Amino acid sequence: MADRKEGIEQQPWTPTDLEIDVERESKLMQKMHMCIRKLENSDFYTTFLDQMETVEVLTYFLRILGSETKMQMVIYGIGSVESYDCPRLQLSFAILIKRKFDWIGDIEVFDPVLSTTETNALEALGCTVLKVNEQGRRQAVKPTMFFMPHCEAVLYDNLLHANWRSENLNQMVLFGNSFEKYEQYVSEFKNSVIVDSARFVLGVRRFSVEIVDVVSDEFFRAFHDSSWHFFKLDPQMELEFENLKTINCSTKEM
Ligand SMILES: C[S@@+](CC[C@H](N)C(=O)[O-])C[C@H]1O[C@@H](n2cnc3c(N)ncnc32)[C@H](O)[C@@H]1O
Repeated sequence: MADRKEGIEQQPWTPTDLEIDVERESKLMQKMHMCIRKLENSDFYTTFLDQMETVEVLTYFLRILGSETKMQMVIYGIGSVESYDCPRLQLSFAILIKRKFDWIGDIEVFDPVLSTTETNALEALGCTVLKVNEQGRRQAVKPTMFFMPHCEAVLYDNLLHANWRSENLNQMVLFGNSFEKYEQYVSEFKNSVIVDSARFVLGVRRFSVEIVDVVSDEFFRAFHDSSWHFFKLDPQMELEFENLKTINCSTKEM
């Protein structure tokens, strides 16, 4: 299959504004600390942690870790943490689970909308902001948690395309929009635009285990329709690209 995303290069990136504003940074840090505290003390967070700590879910995480001690975290598409509540809550969640679980390693973050102020605040919170727009195409050559809350389908698709082999998929977990919901949407509305931008998302469904979101009224906007996606493939299995070409709106099974 021709690589339909060939030619998309990974571009060096810097924030568009280069202005350093110490006052804005300090306000943002205050907002972040408040947000982290609010989330940490919520029933929602407690329930979310309980879900992560069930034997079933912990077993999936441990399987990805294998003999490694750390699982790095890559955050794509966090959005503007200075402008909106949802990105702040999502980032707070990522920071809190890193603090909670010693097997979660370094956090790398990328979103092309990040400003210099946001980049500096993220670094002060212990994250590394990438200097390259990877277009979501990081290869999971070691255990990796991709934290991609409410991203566009094409970003999940780029990621899956870049990791379209059992060795890589078995080493990653993805937190993001429910792939099951994409599949339901496609079969219900026969939407060919989504099909085209989500071929790998739809194609990976048969190898995925999805742990659905914890429902919360208070934090609904930040976390609705989000799931943990784990992938379970026979290590010997060769994944094909050809089959994905045949997906069409009336075909649910691949
Ligand atoms: C629908 S928004 C979600 C923002 C935030 N997570 C939220 O829930 O409000 C998708 C985000 O993906 C970001 N994005 C677009 N291309 C990206 C890329 N190549 N790498 C990382 N993030 C990207 C956009 O800038 C945007 O902030």
